[in-house]
Amino acid sequence: MEKYTTNNATNALLNFLQEQSVRQVVVLTDSNLDALYPHYLDDLAQHFSVEKIVVPAGERHKSIEQAKAIWQQLLEKQYDKNLVIVNFGGGMICDLGGFVAATYKRGVRCVNFPTTLLAMIDAAIGGKTAVNLDHIKNCVGLIRQPDFVVPADVQLLKTLPQSELLSGFGELIKYALIASRPLFDELLQLDKLSAECIRSEWISTCVEYKNKIVAMDPEDIKERHVLNFGHTYGHAIESWRAALGQPVPHGVAVAIGILFECHKAMQEGHFTKDDFILVDKLIRQHFEVPAYDEALERQLSPYFLQDKKNKNGEVAFVQLSEIGKVRL
Ligand code: GLY
Repeated sequence: MEKYTTNNATNALLNFLQEQSVRQVVVLTDSNLDALYPHYLDDLAQHFSVEKIVVPAGERHKSIEQAKAIWQQLLEKQYDKNLVIVNFGGGMICDLGGFVAATYKRGVRCVNFPTTLLAMIDAAIGGKTAVNLDHIKNCVGLIRQPDFVVPADVQLLKTLPQSELLSGFGELIKYALIASRPLFDELLQLDKLSAECIRSEWISTCVEYKNKIVAMDPEDIKERHVLNFGHTYGHAIESWRAALGQPVPHGVAVAIGILFECHKAMQEGHFTKDDFILVDKLIRQHFEVPAYDEALERQLSPYFLQDKKNKNGEVAFVQLSEIGKVRL
């Protein structure tokens, strides 16, 4: 499974671009990452015409206004269909850059170079691109597969803020719960999360599983919905907190969503109490979970209606049958 991870990510990118006879490259990144790694991709300039576009960091900049600003910069520089956009960053950059690449001149090539745990295991893979609209997450976007995903280099996680690491960990728990009991058992052993504990094998397990699901259902019509386990509550929590001006990272909201959805499944008799106790233990070990009461349910309910899994106005949930197995 080594093809999904590497200790020389820039080399992997260079090889891909050289194979593709690329001339023009735009590297899209955010202000946080650019401050940390200002020269990380400088070697590309020895081979191609390279320009860097830096957007302000933060989910609130995953907007149509930001997309327009990038389209305008590409147009001013007269980039044509030969352009390759390299999205160097986390989920926000992959979503925004993927959206711009899919739409500029009706589509230019796009590479995702994930630098966060969340992007390595989820956002960089599968071609979902989007911007947010009026606090509704990923409201406007399209599915278009990237031409290449640079294998994950866990060294990059060492500079990731703890909140972002935790956000990726929320998605990692999701993959363990839907796809791998052995991964879940390993995660249960972790006392305290740090970049050093993240094993390349865990990333490979998630990427391999996601690739398999995306190949079955690239357009997100049926099987792919399993990847949205925890996201019905997760997206509602994320949108509600963003509207309050108190944003929470995506994967943190997903981790809380997972716990609420497992609780609901247990109450409805679809998930055993023993399994629920383990999920509860793992999530509370690493995340602060708000009390789930009627007041919270009232705050979240308008956002459930925006969930993209819904059909005919009915809110759809993904459920587990047991830890490591999802009900399709
Ligand atoms: N993040 C869920 C998906 O890509 O389908």
